[in-house]
Amino acid sequence: MDRIRIVGGNELHGVIPISGAKNAALPLMIASLLTDDTLTLENVPHLADVEQLIRILGNHGADISVNGRRERQGESYARTVHFTSRNIVSTTAPYELVSKMRASFWVIGPLLAREGRARVSLPGGCAIGTRPVDLFIEGLTALGASIEIDGGYVNATAPAGGLIGGRYTFPKVSVGATHVLMMAATLANGTTVLGNAAREPEVVDLAKCLNAMGAKISGQGTSTITIEGVRSLSGARHRVLPDRIETGTYAMAVAMAGGDVILEDTEASLLDTALEAIRRAGAEISDTNNGIRIVRNGAGIRPVDIVTDPFPGFPTDLQAQFMGLMTRSSGVSHITETIFENRFMHVQELARLGAKISLSGQTAKVEGVSRLKGAPVMATDLRASVSLVIAGLAAEGETMVSRVYNLDRGFERLEEKLTRCGAHVERVSD
Ligand code: EPZ
Repeated sequence: MDRIRIVGGNELHGVIPISGAKNAALPLMIASLLTDDTLTLENVPHLADVEQLIRILGNHGADISVNGRRERQGESYARTVHFTSRNIVSTTAPYELVSKMRASFWVIGPLLAREGRARVSLPGGCAIGTRPVDLFIEGLTALGASIEIDGGYVNATAPAGGLIGGRYTFPKVSVGATHVLMMAATLANGTTVLGNAAREPEVVDLAKCLNAMGAKISGQGTSTITIEGVRSLSGARHRVLPDRIETGTYAMAVAMAGGDVILEDTEASLLDTALEAIRRAGAEISDTNNGIRIVRNGAGIRPVDIVTDPFPGFPTDLQAQFMGLMTRSSGVSHITETIFENRFMHVQELARLGAKISLSGQTAKVEGVSRLKGAPVMATDLRASVSLVIAGLAAEGETMVSRVYNLDRGFERLEEKLTRCGAHVERVSD
């Protein structure tokens, strides 16, 4: 099994290309099931989660081809992928596939809207929290679906004439349930109004793509989304938006290691709150014509308190990385997680590198230390794993991160991107 070896101490200087967003690509790929025409997505990142979803969509009858690789410095880093689901050959998403990746549960929306039925395995528990599906069930029921749970599967059936537009206000903000209801409502009879909807840029990107396919969606990016149902959707061509979590992760890596790096093919407006926290920690951040420049030269890292929140708040997917940065601050910071109840697994691994962190309920108190020391550590989930890489960049000596498959789910060619900027990071295969 692969591991990542980091020798800390080098500053980062250079350019890092930011990939297309994993969390936009996944729902966009799933939206291709809504039409019998071809949906072409550009800037699709090459990640384990994307490959897994390609297998899942294939199981439903999608024909998928990858081409148009864009070359940079001799290597492809963005792909164009064509998805054509002429016929849906199966409306069942089996446990073996869904259990590997929670987002695959989201096929329930398009399958129900297009075929009138879906049988999708419950995704089951996940390392970062219980992550139930009650909001999906309530929301789809508000569109007229009959739903029963049987033998670990959600069996959903639409009324004879198809789903019916309705009103649903989420009792809690959910990115996934917003994606699914928006997709399902595109083909419903009548108008759907979603209240307290997620405002994440990935929701806006999905709405933009669905509208290019002929849907009538408005209000995306606000907490009320209105969807007027249409008879059918067509194909379209859409470019996946830049990955704001990857952007924030590398910005924090530079803030941690010091140096001067341009993150290209990205947009600061996708992560204002996180960039502001990094600025307060002591880095200088400015816009370039195609991205962001981040500099920390000599100045120390200041302690900053953060609280995770749905967009436009501080993203939970950057919480672990920010904690990694705060381990080296000159004082005490508090990091509060409000989205997932168990997203602190990186705490004990960061402690192995010498970090001083104590947990009280949903808040971590991080007392900055002047020195971290490399050690063997374990990647527990996707974002937790990259917080260990960030800490490793500033630790003395060697940090060896195991269970790297967690990292490969969401970071495209991480070691290459960091190595090009002068870091000592390598993949070791046993
Ligand atoms: C998305 O997950 C992202 N995944 C997550 O990124 C991200 O952490 C999360 O949104 C929050 O921003 C993808 O986009 C593929 P939610 P999602 O539904 O949609 C509760 C990463 O590292 N909830 O917004 O699954 C839920 O338990 C991943 O890239 C219910 O209670 O998250 C959580 O506490 C990890 N009932 C909260 O809502 C439901 O029916 C927000 O979850 C649904 C959710």
